[in-house]
Amino acid sequence: MMNPRLDLLADYPFDRLRALLDGLPPPKELETLVLSVGEPRHSPSPLVHEVIAANSGLWGRYPPIDGTPEFRLAVTDWLNRRYALPDGLVDAHKHVLPVAGTREALYLIASVAIAERRAGSRPAVLMPNPFYQVYYGAAVMSGAEPCYLAATPETGHLPDLTQLDDAALERTAIMYLCSPANPQGAAADGGYLENAIRLARRFDFVLVVDECYSDIYDRQPPCGALQACAAMSDGSGGEDMANVLVFHSLSKRSSVPGLRSGFVAGDPRLISAFRRVRSFGGASVPLPVLAASAALWKDTDYPEHNRALYREKFDAAEAILANRFGFYRPEGGFFLWLDVGNGEEAAKKLWAEGALRVLPGAYLAKSDAFGANPGANYIRMALIDDLPSTQEALRRLDKIL
Ligand SMILES: Cc1ncc(COP(=O)(O)O)c(C=O)c1O
Repeated sequence: MMNPRLDLLADYPFDRLRALLDGLPPPKELETLVLSVGEPRHSPSPLVHEVIAANSGLWGRYPPIDGTPEFRLAVTDWLNRRYALPDGLVDAHKHVLPVAGTREALYLIASVAIAERRAGSRPAVLMPNPFYQVYYGAAVMSGAEPCYLAATPETGHLPDLTQLDDAALERTAIMYLCSPANPQGAAADGGYLENAIRLARRFDFVLVVDECYSDIYDRQPPCGALQACAAMSDGSGGEDMANVLVFHSLSKRSSVPGLRSGFVAGDPRLISAFRRVRSFGGASVPLPVLAASAALWKDTDYPEHNRALYREKFDAAEAILANRFGFYRPEGGFFLWLDVGNGEEAAKKLWAEGALRVLPGAYLAKSDAFGANPGANYIRMALIDDLPSTQEALRRLDKIL
C-alpha cells in the first residue's frame, strides 16, 4: 500500500534527537534550554498583527496561487535593493512566486525538475553535506539519487565545485546550494555563485539556491545568486536568470516562522512550470498573510534590529567559548557549529548534565563512500533565545564539555 521510498525518510533529525535523549532525564533543578531547532524567537515587528487585522475581511477568499501584484512588487523591490539588481532584471509578474514557507517549495521543486531518466541514467540531485534535510527528502521521494558534496572546513564549508566530474553533472537534475549555509554559516561569494550558474547552464540542470538566511549576517550582506546572474549578464535580457531559482523566506528575516511565507524567484520557464505544479499540489498563501508579507519585505528597520540581536549573542559566544571547539563567527545565519569531538556524546552529556538540548551534527549529514560522516564531530546550537538564556546555555556548555 505504501510507497517503498518512504523507508528512506526514516531518520529526520528531530526524531533521531528524541530517540537519543528521551530516555535521559535532565537535571530537575535546571531550566530546560532548547537550542536544537532553528526556530527564531525574537519578537516580530508589530506590523504582522496590524496588517493581518486590517485585512481580516480577506480570510473568506481563496488566494490565487501566484499571490497579489502588491506582494510580488514588494518582493521585487526588496530583491532590487538588497542585491543592487539592474532595473528590469526581475519582473514582478513573470519571475516571482509566493510560497507557503520555503520548506514545501524546496521539496516541490523536485517535481518540476526531476524526470524518470536523465542522460540515460537515474537522475542525480547534488547537495552540500551537511545540509537542510528537505533537499534529501525531495530527491529520494522523486526517485533521484542524492549525491553529497562535502562542505567541511577544508572546503570552506561550501561544496568544492571544482571537484565535480562531468559524468555526474550530465545526470544532475538539481543542485541545491544554501548560502549562508545551515548549519555552518558560510556565505558563497559572487565568483563561487557564478561558477555554479555556469555549471547549471552547461549541463542544463536547475540550480536551487536556498537563501533563507540572507538577511541575517554578521558584517557583509552575503551575495545572492540573482546578483551573480546580473554580473554575468551580457545585457541582452531574456536568459539572464536561466537555470537559476532563489528561495527566500520571512521566517528568519522577520522572525515569523509561523507565518509560513516566502517566495521563489528566477528563470521564467521554471517559475511558470512551478506555478503549474503548485496549482495542483502547492499551498497558496492566504490574502491577509500576503498583505502582511508585503509590509515585511518593505520594512528595513526590523532586519537591522534583528541582526544586532544576533551579533550580541555571537559576541557572547566569542567571549565565553574563546577559541575552543573550533569556534568561529559565521558569516551568516544564527547557528554555532562546534567541533566537540563526538557530537552525539556531547548532545547526551549536555542534556543529561545541563538540560541543554543541541543537535548532533551527524544528524544533518550523510556518511560518504568511506563511511565517514562530515558532521560527526559537531553539534549545532541555534542562538535563537534572548541574550541571558543564550549566555546561560553557553556557560553550561563551557562547564560540562
Ligand atoms: C536552510 C533552510 N532552508 C529552508 C528552511 C525553511 O524555512 P521556511 O519553511 O520557514 O521558509 C529552513 C528552516 O529551518 C532552513 O534552515
